[in-house]
Order: sequence, then structure tokens, then C-alpha cells
Amino acid sequence: MNAFKNQVAVVTGASSGIGKACSYALAKQFASVCMLGRNINELKIIENKVSEYSPSSKAVQVDLFNDSEIHESIEFIKREYGKVHILVHSAGLYSTGSIADAPVQDFDNQYKINVRAPYLLTQKMLPIFDREHGQIAFINSTVAMNAKKNLSQYCATKSALKALTDSLRQEVNAEGIRVLTVYPGRTATPMQEDVCKREGVAFNPDAMIQPAHVADILVSALHTPRDAEITDITVRPMKAM
Ligand SMILES: NC(=O)c1ccc[n+]([C@@H]2O[C@H](COP(=O)([O-])OP(=O)(O)OC[C@H]3O[C@@H](n4cnc5c(N)ncnc54)[C@H](OP(=O)(O)O)[C@@H]3O)[C@@H](O)[C@H]2O)c1
Repeated sequence: MNAFKNQVAVVTGASSGIGKACSYALAKQFASVCMLGRNINELKIIENKVSEYSPSSKAVQVDLFNDSEIHESIEFIKREYGKVHILVHSAGLYSTGSIADAPVQDFDNQYKINVRAPYLLTQKMLPIFDREHGQIAFINSTVAMNAKKNLSQYCATKSALKALTDSLRQEVNAEGIRVLTVYPGRTATPMQEDVCKREGVAFNPDAMIQPAHVADILVSALHTPRDAEITDITVRPMKAM
């Protein structure tokens, strides 16, 4: 399928896990994918692999803690592509700890990556968004609707991201931009491996959702005919965990 030929997709968190899988899935459908992350070595490997389908895909090193790097990456996208059709926010950060103990700095860091960075990137990219095919997708988490103990900071940032996304949809739908949130449960990525380590349970990727399957579900929603909009998709591992 080449539905995304001549379209530009920007993916954050493209160096790992779900963002990396989304980059492959979009490139295989011939989108030019601009892949954002800090780990430039990994991003270059992905750029090399996707160039087979999508030679104009590019890796861009950006630390989402740093506003000036965010602005520079957007200037690069403007110069290189001129327009954006699809934006996938996958970069994310989590930490654990009870409200009694968890450092407030951890909360600030998660707010910056999970809420503020998607806000800023979206705000700065809206002027160059294609109004005919525009789509913005957010990788949220099932904890946005179902908070867990010892995860208050992460859950709060994901709930905030849901609010941001739902407001955004009402603001930009009329301008021709669709907004999708995907809420995955446990997905077999490096982040989830770390979650399991902290919980003291074995990391069993076969019992989890595969990142490529989250990406396939997201991309299939992006194919929805333009008179309709899929707003929210919850994806949970079928096997009980
Ligand atoms: N895995 C799960 O079970 C699960 C479940 C529900 C929701 N999610 C959500 O899914 C999304 C993707 O997570 P994942 O599981 O794929 O995790 P992952 O494999 O750890 O990937 C996280 C990505 O975020 C990027 N990132 C983190 N901090 C950054 C920063 N300061 N600047 C730029 N990029 C940064 C990382 O890139 P660099 O290291 O290159 O900077 C990496 O590409 C996250 O939003 C997460 O909350 C995951």
C-alpha cells in the first residue's frame, strides 16, 4: 500500500520501541519519515534500513528537554520538507515511586517529555501542517484512565496528555487535522523491560503486545476515510499479565 507516498511523517521517540516500529511502518508505506530522538547512532541505523522504501527519510537528533533543540528540529523539518502530514508523538519517560517518596524532579522530567514536549512540537508544527491529509497521533497509556499505585507521576502526565489531545482535536478538526490517541498496555520494549526489572518480575516479551503491532494498528487507523475520525484506540495484551 502506498497511501502515504508524497506525505511527510514526523515521529518522536523514533530510536526505540513503539516510535521505532511506527517509523518502519510509515516508511514501508512510502511516507518520508523524519525520525526524532537523542540516540543518533540508533536513528542512523533505522534511517539506513528505511531508505530502501523511503529514501528521503531522515534521522534528527533532538533532546526534548531542550527547547532550542526542539526549535532547531522544526526549522530543519521546514527547510527539508516544507510540510508535515502526520505527526506521531511516541517519546516518553516514566519513573516509579510512592507520593511519599518519589522526587519531585522526576515528576518535572516526566511532565517535560510526556506533556510539554508534545504540546510545544504540536504548536510549532501546526503552521506547516497539511490541511487535507493532516493527522496527529499520540502514544498514551492505559494508565491515563486507570492510575496505579507507585506510578502517580507517570499516570498524571498521561492523564494530562489525554486532556491536551482531546482539546486539540476540538481545535483542529475544523481545520482538516485529525487527532488520534493510542492507549497501549504492556508492550515489549526497552521501557517495559525496565518496568519489569523495577517490579521484580521476569520480562516476558511473548506475553506482551509487540511494538510492531501497536504501529500496525496506529497506521491502519491513519487510513480511515477522511469523512470519519478514529479518536481513541485501547490495545491491551490478550494474555492476562
Ligand atoms: N512499553 C509499554 O509497555 C508502554 C505502554 C503504554 C504506553 N507506552 C508509551 O509508549 C511510548 C513509547 O514507549 P516505548 O515503550 O517505545 O519506550 P522506549 O523503547 O523506552 O522508547 C522511548 C523513546 O522516547 C525517547 N525519549 C525519551 N526521552 C527523550 C528525550 N529527552 N528527548 C528525545 N527523545 C526522548 C527515546 O529516545 P532517545 O533515547 O533516543 O532519546 C526513545 O526513543 C511512551 O510514550 C510510553 O509512555 C509504553
